Amino acid sequence: MKISSQEFLANQGLAASGIDAPAVLDDFHEEMAHGLAGSDSSLAMIPTFITVDRPLPADEPVVVLDAGGTNLRVATVVFDRAGKAEIMDFAKYEMPGISAEISGADFFLQFASYLQPVIEKSKKIGFCFSYPAEITPDCDGRLLRWTKEVKAPDVVGKYIGKGLLAALGLKGSGRRVTILNDTIATLLAGKAIGGGRYSSYMGFILGTGTNIAYIEQNSNITKRNDLDVSGSQAINVESGNFDKAPRGHLDEVIDNSTANPGGQKFEKMISGRYFGDLSLLVLQTAAREELFSRQTGQCILAIKELAGRDVDDFLGKAKKSVLADSVFNVDDREYVEELLYGVIDRSAKLTALNLSAAAIKSGAGRNAEYPVCINIDGSTYYKTTDYKRRAESYLAEILGARGVSFDITRTDEAPIIGAAIAGLTQ
Ligand code: BGC
Repeated sequence: MKISSQEFLANQGLAASGIDAPAVLDDFHEEMAHGLAGSDSSLAMIPTFITVDRPLPADEPVVVLDAGGTNLRVATVVFDRAGKAEIMDFAKYEMPGISAEISGADFFLQFASYLQPVIEKSKKIGFCFSYPAEITPDCDGRLLRWTKEVKAPDVVGKYIGKGLLAALGLKGSGRRVTILNDTIATLLAGKAIGGGRYSSYMGFILGTGTNIAYIEQNSNITKRNDLDVSGSQAINVESGNFDKAPRGHLDEVIDNSTANPGGQKFEKMISGRYFGDLSLLVLQTAAREELFSRQTGQCILAIKELAGRDVDDFLGKAKKSVLADSVFNVDDREYVEELLYGVIDRSAKLTALNLSAAAIKSGAGRNAEYPVCINIDGSTYYKTTDYKRRAESYLAEILGARGVSFDITRTDEAPIIGAAIAGLTQ
């Protein structure tokens, strides 16, 4: 008798049921506290100097850049008096440093050339930069490290706003670049649609990468001594680097195959950039253990690459897909499905734990009339088969038991809208 898919996943250390939720929450909170205190932690807990209480000027254009996972987007944005955004001059390019390594100078020149056509539209530039960057009180950002397989090593340690203005030849021109993370932009976009109904705001991304932002009291950010202790601000947690979630051997195999082994361990367990790779590794390991018929096993072992999209095609019963072409009987099909849903379910539970850790840490949502607004962006969250339902059911279970009320919201173009708000208000 072959072992069940659940036993196989448990043996591999990949079963959602094997994750001790209270223990992971405690670990998150401990790492968050260390990060805020400036002691050793896998969570950078970056103060952003962004607050959610500033009025949004109407009829004033702002230039927006959005450097996220695989794409780089440029636009100008204007809000009307009702706060409705109009996005204009939209253009999309490939993110420099993804398909080939690029030098620091060329990196900034590429960005400058993409910005050139719209640069005269406003003196204010909101730049959603979705990588770990330390933020200065005037909202420039110094890149701490690359994630999501970007290869531009000379840019590490550089100020992104200053570098961009220098490449544009616009230093000292009175232009102002506001750098913010995509989770912060998403948080701000949630605030813009949520109004004052909520006791606090969070921004969560699950796409190519993953990360979360929430609002923290300045008095808890003890690593800085220049903050008004009666205030609060958005914190970029950089949760993709969390290193206390229980990993299986295959997570280590994935990690070792990346551009930054040992970094972004949590991200590599749950985000879209690695989801196809991990799924394929799980299926091929099962094939090696002869858990499929011989023909299916051989075909699965011959697959060279699997994308998240291929997994969705298979689970969505698309007639033709890499996996459908490799699976030859009903039993194999069921087993493959169970394994894939197993990978999805573990990711959904870890996402729910990440969301819960930040919601609890915010201290908000204790009165059901004023929930926490959790604005979520990212294609992996919304497009992976049955992901959203699973994550939100884990979330309701974990936060419900702790008396924290929340609403999940979604805004169109959250990174662009949030970057526009920050560019105009901060
Ligand atoms: C980056 C974060 C970003 C997240 C989602 C991660 O790889 O480190 O800064 O917010 O991806 O885009």
